[in-house]
Amino acid sequence: MSNPLDQLRDNHSDFSKNQEAFQFTDPFLAFETWFNLAVSSGEKEVNAMVISTVNEAMKPSARVVYLKEISDQQFVFYTNYLSHKGKDLQQNPNASLLFFWPGLERQIRIEGTVNKISETESDAYFASRPRESQLGAWASHQSEPLKEMGEITQRFKELDQEFPGQVPRPKHWGGMALRPTYLEFWQGQASRLHERVCFKLNEDEWQISRLNP
Ligand SMILES: Cc1cc2nc3c(=O)[nH]c(=O)nc-3n(C[C@H](O)[C@H](O)[C@H](O)COP(=O)(O)O)c2cc1C
Repeated sequence: MSNPLDQLRDNHSDFSKNQEAFQFTDPFLAFETWFNLAVSSGEKEVNAMVISTVNEAMKPSARVVYLKEISDQQFVFYTNYLSHKGKDLQQNPNASLLFFWPGLERQIRIEGTVNKISETESDAYFASRPRESQLGAWASHQSEPLKEMGEITQRFKELDQEFPGQVPRPKHWGGMALRPTYLEFWQGQASRLHERVCFKLNEDEWQISRLNP
């Protein structure tokens, strides 16, 4: 029987006529430029990124979260601090981020350490969210077992009554920020001669290098 995955081979278009696509010296400017192009070229879920964490037992796990902001050269997302990823990051702050924009044949890999952002910043972002999302942050005991959906919809209804006015931010929900020490930009090119450009933080300087595809 033929393997259907064999049909999926992508011959990567001659996107930039195989010229070097990458000319940046600042990784954050490179990220911003690629991100803006992904938005304007109609990529879906441009700010969805895979974050990989490693737990105490050295077991990795990965999931998608939304990038909400780049602030002070840190990549910020919001989550439940008591979730699987929240606990991993509490014990081991090392993590990686991954963006994949297939329409552009581009991937960005980012590695660094993650810390909670300030309570004030988390409060401000939480306050900007729709009421339903705010109640959802209370109702979801993220990553804990759930017998049935009815359990959480009931909790949601009760919380709606408990907080008739403004919904306060749960202390276990807020922002986390990854400060990169490594960023790698991958551009698909013809003949599998893909470009890979890396930025590695050495003391306070970003060292740029290229890698074989
Ligand atoms: C497109 C997409 C965006 C998501 N964004 C977030 C997010 O911003 N924050 C979050 O906590 N979970 C988000 N999730 C859910 C996570 O992938 C994951 O299921 C959840 O955070 C629990 O992960 P954990 O048990 O590893 O902590 C998103 C999922 C998808 C598919």
